[in-house]
Amino acid sequence: MTTINKNYLKLQGNYLFAEVARRVRAYKEENPKANVISLGIGDVTRPLAPAVIEALHKAVDEMADAATFRGYGPEQGYAFLREAIVNTIYKPRKAEVAADEIFVSDGAKSDCGNLQEIFGTDNTIAITDPVYPVYLDTNVMAGRTGFFDEATGMFDKVVYMPCTAENDFLPQIPQKHVDIIYLCCPNNPTGTTLSRVQLKAWVDYAKKEKAIILYDAAYAYYITEEDVPHTIFEIEGARDVAIEFRSFSKTAGFTGMRCGYTVVPKTVFGMTPDGTKKSLNEMWNRRHTTKFNGTAYIIQRAAEAVLTEKGQQQIKETIAYYMNNAKVIRQGLSDMGMKYYGGVNAPYIWLRTPEGMSSWEFFDKLLHEADIVGTPGSGFGPSGEGYFRLTAFGDAKATVEAVERMKTRLKL
Ligand code: MLT
Repeated sequence: MTTINKNYLKLQGNYLFAEVARRVRAYKEENPKANVISLGIGDVTRPLAPAVIEALHKAVDEMADAATFRGYGPEQGYAFLREAIVNTIYKPRKAEVAADEIFVSDGAKSDCGNLQEIFGTDNTIAITDPVYPVYLDTNVMAGRTGFFDEATGMFDKVVYMPCTAENDFLPQIPQKHVDIIYLCCPNNPTGTTLSRVQLKAWVDYAKKEKAIILYDAAYAYYITEEDVPHTIFEIEGARDVAIEFRSFSKTAGFTGMRCGYTVVPKTVFGMTPDGTKKSLNEMWNRRHTTKFNGTAYIIQRAAEAVLTEKGQQQIKETIAYYMNNAKVIRQGLSDMGMKYYGGVNAPYIWLRTPEGMSSWEFFDKLLHEADIVGTPGSGFGPSGEGYFRLTAFGDAKATVEAVERMKTRLKL
């Protein structure tokens, strides 16, 4: 019989959000009248910006006309989008990124899951704990993580960097050598950030260790505080050690449209078995052109519209709407005397579960007593135990209602 990739046997349970969805479905079946409000998966609820809709219509019309119809596009993305990204995202921040260092894709989740393929399975990875599950699970699938220790809830070859209230959610630079470091700022799930000085320390460490930083900046548009970098390429030296993932999902409501991109500078290198340097830009280009046939033309035109002046103004209004939800949630939690973090530079609020409850116990309590869905912190890693994530991506009225229910229905 055909054998399987045995690394899959090491994956822990279901993918977190699939497990949350499974439990919510079961609850709704048992309680068909319950009006469940989801503050769980970070999925957007506001419609696309008018500039995006206009661009979509125009692109659809082009596809209907033989003179402007397009088939396969460049796998790396059309030049119009790659150049718009350089001009709107990177140039204003004086971050040196060239259009041919950008690879457009169907979203940052695919990119941050797939990119590890170009690295050897003998590399050591460092991840924050808690962490966006995709980083770890895709390395488990590739066999880069060693065995799972039931007692600690950790893989033996992975360097976990605990981020808890005790260390202000700051990942500590490892004492030993690691090869690949995953950083997400603003952070999912904790909603916390690194300052420029703190990020510079990571860049310096990566240089010293000849390591690569995989930097997820999917939430950069939610930054409100001055000292938080909007891209790792603002940091001196980052071009030699970092790869950056970005997305239009949370930025412009593209979760159902699918468009993201990855920046692989031509100045980052890996090493071949005989010790020669190999360009990671070339390797990712090889992988991308082999396994991906490009993001849909109409979606790329829509993404281009996000990057126009009108588009930028419109998406910033939507982001302000979500950040107002974050404020409502924070205020509600303060009124309830609960401890929470984040929600200032990110659409996520990370709260401490009350009275020492486990994350899943609090998940059940919130669902059963208040018909509210959140995400259990332990699903993001062992250090997430005792924490819980709420998102600000909901409808404004439903968010107010959810906070009211927490205040009045939760038996604490
Ligand atoms: C989340 O809730 O963490 C995100 O929606 C997951 C994702 O972006 O894939």
